[in-house]
Amino acid sequence: MDSFDFSTRVVVVVGGTSGINRGVAESFARAGAKVAVASRSREKVDATVAALQALGAEAMGFTCDVRESEALAEGMNAVAAAWGQIDVLVSGAAGNFPALANSMSPKAFKSVVDIDLLGTFHVMRAAYPHLRKPGASVINISAPQAFLPMIAQSHVCAAKAGVDMITRCLALEWAAEGLRVNSIVPGPIAGTEGMKRLAPSEDLIEKTRKSVPLQRLGEPDDIARACQFLASPMASYINGVVLPVDGGWSLSGASSFSSMVASFFQTGQA
Ligand code: NAP
Ligand code: COA
Repeated sequence: MDSFDFSTRVVVVVGGTSGINRGVAESFARAGAKVAVASRSREKVDATVAALQALGAEAMGFTCDVRESEALAEGMNAVAAAWGQIDVLVSGAAGNFPALANSMSPKAFKSVVDIDLLGTFHVMRAAYPHLRKPGASVINISAPQAFLPMIAQSHVCAAKAGVDMITRCLALEWAAEGLRVNSIVPGPIAGTEGMKRLAPSEDLIEKTRKSVPLQRLGEPDDIARACQFLASPMASYINGVVLPVDGGWSLSGASSFSSMVASFFQTGQA
């Protein structure tokens, strides 16, 4: 059997209605999976489900805010009622805005921690009863901020560092049941909301591109292929890793990017 043939597999992508995660959802749909997506906006969920169906996949969706554990549990229950056990869970909902710690209210800091960190916990807890045991693969979408401190990103750095620790802890807790839990750390991905918020000009985008050792921005497909690998039998002994998929960006500390963002948001000039 082709290791990257996901037909008959059930894939759930939380935060799968735009950007990188939507690219992940579409790639699993193209590989034959039944794909469910979830996010806050009914409009985005419906549009994504229609796009997945247009790719020939069985698709469904539910709305939820990942800060609300009950809504997630209801959504996961609905997926399991329709299709049975979940083979692949991708947790990628996140919030980001650049802000210096001194210019952020406690609520601002908390909103990102609640979405990224608590949200990841909620997603994993809600999916757990329905994960195929043994065999399911859980993939959390992290960020370089998890291990690279950046100015104007203290909230995101704290939250994503926590996401990677949840990955490692649950990789231990769940391993005996045959579940694997890994994180993927995307580099700067072209055309995404994350890039629009942190590199909001053509000049900053070009400087970001040059800061990547491979000299290109990533594409959602780069992340989607890594997800397929981690979800496939080819990765059956990979558990608890934090995998950068970033053209080598984090090797250099994404350093010029970090100082650019700092300079832009402190002085208005990159
Ligand atoms: P995006 O397009 O804004 O995608 C975020 C997704 O999460 C959307 O589907 C959004 O839909 C959903 N979402 C946001 N808040 C939510 C909430 N409270 N509850 C439920 N769903 C929520 O972002 P992106 O730039 O593609 O980033 C996707 C992931 O990659 C994130 O985890 C991000 O940290 C990570 N990442 C991105 C980059 C990059 O270059 N873009 C780099 C490194 C890591 P709704 O608005 O409908 O809720
Ligand atoms: N600088 C400082 N504070 C900010 C801010 C900014 N740029 N943007 C939002 N905040 C603050 C708000 O002022 C509010 O705090 P306050 O009430 O004390 O003033 C707090 O953050 C929450 O904002 P709110 O708009 O109520 O939150 P929300 O839950 O509706 O939205 C966000 C969450 C702010 C993260 C929103 O940007 C979002 O939904 N993002 C999802 C998409 C995304 O970020 N994609 C990129 C992923 S890498």
